[in-house]
Amino acid sequence: MKVKYTKFELNKKFVSLQMGAKTTSRHFDLPQEDRIIILDFGSQYSQLIARRIRELGVYSEILPYHVSLDEIKNHRPKGIILSGGPSSVNSKDAKLIDPEIYRLGIPVLGICYGMQLTAHLLGGEVSEGEIGEYGRSVFYKTNHESLLMHGVPEKSTVWMSHFDEVRRLPAGFESLGHTDSCIAGMENSGKRIYALQFHPEVSHTEYGNRILKNFVFDICRCEPNWNLADFIEKTIYEIKETVGNKRVILGLSGGVDSSVAAALIHQAIGDQLTCIHVDTGLMRKNESELVMQTFGEHFHMNIIHVDASETFLSRLKGVSDPEEKRKIIGRQFIEVFNREALKIKDASFLAQGTIYPDVIESKSAKGGPSVTIKSHHNVGGLPEEMELELLEPLKDLFKDEVRKIGLALGIPEKMIMRHPFPGPGLGIRILGEVDEEKIRILQEADDILIRELENHGLYNRVSQAFVVLLPVKSVGVMGDERTYEYTAVIRSADTTDFMTATWSRLPYDFLDKVATRIINEVRGINRVVYDISNKPPATIEWE
Ligand code: XMP
Repeated sequence: MKVKYTKFELNKKFVSLQMGAKTTSRHFDLPQEDRIIILDFGSQYSQLIARRIRELGVYSEILPYHVSLDEIKNHRPKGIILSGGPSSVNSKDAKLIDPEIYRLGIPVLGICYGMQLTAHLLGGEVSEGEIGEYGRSVFYKTNHESLLMHGVPEKSTVWMSHFDEVRRLPAGFESLGHTDSCIAGMENSGKRIYALQFHPEVSHTEYGNRILKNFVFDICRCEPNWNLADFIEKTIYEIKETVGNKRVILGLSGGVDSSVAAALIHQAIGDQLTCIHVDTGLMRKNESELVMQTFGEHFHMNIIHVDASETFLSRLKGVSDPEEKRKIIGRQFIEVFNREALKIKDASFLAQGTIYPDVIESKSAKGGPSVTIKSHHNVGGLPEEMELELLEPLKDLFKDEVRKIGLALGIPEKMIMRHPFPGPGLGIRILGEVDEEKIRILQEADDILIRELENHGLYNRVSQAFVVLLPVKSVGVMGDERTYEYTAVIRSADTTDFMTATWSRLPYDFLDKVATRIINEVRGINRVVYDISNKPPATIEWE
């Protein structure tokens, strides 16, 4: 398969950095961007706040609520946002902060729990409301002078999600407005402390973005100086400085994150990077070839292609339990990767495509990794004698930012916009025991679905689509022949965060076309069904 490559084009400054140049002593002016920090009390919306602020062109970071004052100061924030969270300030295990935060002279914006906490710590009163307020509410603005509320009309829709509420404001605070059931915002403008009971980061809050802009630009006086071209330039410089003339290895699956990490590191250190691509035999049709073609032939990277499909298949023989399959695939992957990595004797760094949501997950307010769906990806257990240092150049970026960088670095759009693909691959999309024949059948069927989605302009409109092969045979008729063959499932989900999802309302004619093609063209399938389950309670994958 041939792919189209976009021209490598950033800004002029960047072009002067030659591909593969050795570390130079050239010194860049690396000013720190203005930044807003978000103290996370466990809200499902904390990441969304950070993304909204970055969309305004201002760098934002999430820190657990319990970081020390010194750590906060070290980040040199121009503003602090206190997120929402599930606890109550009046409970025994309330998540509290050092009230000194309000005296640092840095503007503070409390959101939801952040407002209740601010009221509680500064002498106001918080108690349980008579009824909780969830969903849309009408906000009546009362403080017309407020910088935070500038441009917000007297009446607007806001998004609420709370049970506790502020009953009495702390001394020195004024109300910003109310809903039918509670005080919905407060401020002490002299001390630059602001708080909202509603969620400005949620798109249902009509003027949410305006309020965040007011806070970030007019109150915190940030400049919109976070941009990805500068990020690339700075990161390439940092990679060169860090790596010097040493060698780096990276597991390149062909997924977005590892691909972008590889391209970025390759820009910085060229041939000092060696990628290891493990072909598990459980990849989509032609996937390994595409990876080798893109990164080997086009980018001229050093890539070791390890065809381990036979080993994976033999280890999976006779195994049908999903968890057992996942474990085997994960263990096998590590084993193969380590074996190859050990051959690169002088490697000093292990690069990974860790992105910001992975980092946040592992330092969440709850204090530990909540979900470990990616555990097999973290090339764990590398032999100690290798003493590799981690290199994670994307660890501060959200997925959409990673994609933009990938495009800017010239990775084909088709690879960058690909749907996510689970580490255990087709191993968990073939229900029950996996064998070579089922892999072939599934690869063919899945390829038809994906190509038709592309042909119909639907691929980028759904979040993730694939085919699942069931170990269920049913009777059919083809010509005059009775058939007794497998069943394929089309699964397509729409989601923003993959934590919840709805099934995609794909047009009937489209589904008809895909089902007909699969049944006619893929030997081994005589029935196609469409999965119309939402998550929860179903998961996106079937195993
Ligand atoms: P579920 O099936 O849990 O999937 O609704 C949510 C998202 O996670 C992906 N997924 C995985 N990704 N390793 C991965 O790297 C895994 O073991 C794994 N299991 C599920 C899934 O494809 C979807 O995008």
